[in-house]
Amino acid sequence: MTDPVYRTDALIAEDIEAYLEKHRHKTMLRFITCGSVDDGKSTLIGRLLYDSKMIFEDQLASLESDSKKVGTQGQDIDFALLVDGLAAEREQGITIDVAYRFFSTENRKFIVADCPGHEQYTRNMVTGASTADLAVILIDARKGVLTQTRRHSFLCHQLGISNILLAVNKMDLVDYDQATFDAIVDEYRDFAQSIGISDFTAIPISGLAGDNITSASANTSWYAGEHLMQHLEGVEVRSEINQAKPFRMAVQWVNRPNLDFRGFSGQIATGVVRKGDSVRVLPSGKTSTVKSVVTLDGELDQAIAGQSVTICFDDEIDCSRGDVIAGADNPPEAADQFEATIVWMDDEDMIPGRAYWLQLGTQTVAATVQAPKYEINVNTMDQLAAKTLSLNSIGVAEVTTDRSIVFEPYTENRTLGGFVLIDKLTNRTVAAGMLHFSLRRAQNVHWQAVDITRDQHAAMKNQRARVVWFTGLSGSGKSTIANLVEKKLHRMNRHTFLLDGDNVRHGLNKDLGFTEADRIENIRRVGEVAKLMSDAGLIVITAFISPFRAERQMVRSMLLDGEFIEVFVDTPIEVAEERDVKGLYKKARSGELKNFTGIDSPYETPQNAEIRIDTTAMTPQEAADKIVDVLLGDG
Ligand code: ADX
Repeated sequence: MTDPVYRTDALIAEDIEAYLEKHRHKTMLRFITCGSVDDGKSTLIGRLLYDSKMIFEDQLASLESDSKKVGTQGQDIDFALLVDGLAAEREQGITIDVAYRFFSTENRKFIVADCPGHEQYTRNMVTGASTADLAVILIDARKGVLTQTRRHSFLCHQLGISNILLAVNKMDLVDYDQATFDAIVDEYRDFAQSIGISDFTAIPISGLAGDNITSASANTSWYAGEHLMQHLEGVEVRSEINQAKPFRMAVQWVNRPNLDFRGFSGQIATGVVRKGDSVRVLPSGKTSTVKSVVTLDGELDQAIAGQSVTICFDDEIDCSRGDVIAGADNPPEAADQFEATIVWMDDEDMIPGRAYWLQLGTQTVAATVQAPKYEINVNTMDQLAAKTLSLNSIGVAEVTTDRSIVFEPYTENRTLGGFVLIDKLTNRTVAAGMLHFSLRRAQNVHWQAVDITRDQHAAMKNQRARVVWFTGLSGSGKSTIANLVEKKLHRMNRHTFLLDGDNVRHGLNKDLGFTEADRIENIRRVGEVAKLMSDAGLIVITAFISPFRAERQMVRSMLLDGEFIEVFVDTPIEVAEERDVKGLYKKARSGELKNFTGIDSPYETPQNAEIRIDTTAMTPQEAADKIVDVLLGDG
């Protein structure tokens, strides 16, 4: 006689193994739900979680008692309570307010991103939608297509979600009326087509009553299509679609535990890679052959989109973090100028011309954004003229990076086409963006190689090139001291050139005023000119207010270490105003002159200036002597 206990255990073990095996191979669908709480979003999500039995017992118990307290007419459980309860926990102190929930059915795993639907929450939607395969656009059958429906659909479409599921909810409250449903679907179809959504699926449901959620409802006998869960389980997910695309993997890190092993790790964005494949590393363009594909579970013959792997090459070609490995025959492009859709997510407006960090996959570069070509009104889809983008606004603009990045249009590849912009000083993520295409201009302008180097230019002048960058308030004494510095250097037979704010604004920059954007452009141009002059071997002296840290930093980064010498002329505003050499402070105080630095336009004090001059403690000549000493002290 066999031992019954033993047999049962064995069976259970087998079951568990089979269950895990099945689970491992389940595909995962990520979706986002759009609509406000009033549309029944929370109830719907709660229903899905409940019906897929993913709610833990203790949560269920407390839910049942809460529902009794609140009294939900005739319903045993108020599903909305469950979801809102979870969301409330997360709302504390989180700026990006997206609640992710996990559940699974026999056939598939799911991650739902639930974002608040108000207009000011565009950034939440972007966060949730950027990884979603499908969007459930919820409509209240009594209200039909609303402005909000349009806005959400537009954003989902922009973010590349191709599966749109129009869930016409609360059908129980319109007596399951087919005409109501049809009218809503017709109206939505017209709108969808107008913004380029070619296909969507519409299902009449009731989250509260459970119609067409996990089974076909007898109340809508006129509807022959899938129920909601059927649809969610059946649509093709991105990882499946991505497998059919060409192979691309962004390198996250170089895995080199010892001298015998060197592999490149990352997650495969699209396509398939096999042992023996010819591959190309970008942007260098060097080719190699895949020697092995290694994972935590050992070596594989091939790996597919979505898998995290380490790829080893036959030879030792250069490849590092930020590079992209692709099939040798059809590599993606590299470029440094693009058109992109940008969703602004920061409280402070975008500043055209300012350098931000642009992060695309594992690549990080400095990038500037031009003033938008247009902004899109997300309620009407109208294209509006705009000078900048502010919180939650969306626009199309030109983006320029300081070196080429490997990319693909967002519509083809989210990993290589989606990016974020990060403020260089605060490290805040200020925008999300989607690349459309590269501007050919970038590819057709090349660096021309020259034979006489910048070192040779400087050597002929018996000096080392420098940029002595004065910064400080108007009337602080920049020009006066800069002039004395130049005179002294000149007497010492140094080759110099002085660029002064007031003078440059009469010529090169006469088209610029004193708005933030104009000041940034002013400094950008002056920085470029100073750079060219330093290439020619000159000691360049500049005297501009240059009020923003970011632009001073930008010029610094254009030069070699030690070449940029920042001189902060630290004169308190009261002193500068007291002197008021040009009478401008008086005008600014009376309101006659707008955007005046220190009055109604900011000045950001330098934090790491090489030299600080306190003009209340020394004469201009003493200041000039001090600067020349530092300048020539190191050669
Ligand atoms: S910056 O801010 O863009 O660096 P820049 O140094 O070129 O300014 O020009 C500053 C000079 O322009 C000042 O010294 C002053 O003579 C003049 N000016 C005229 N309007 C303004 C203003 N609104 N703010 C500051 N300076 C002004």
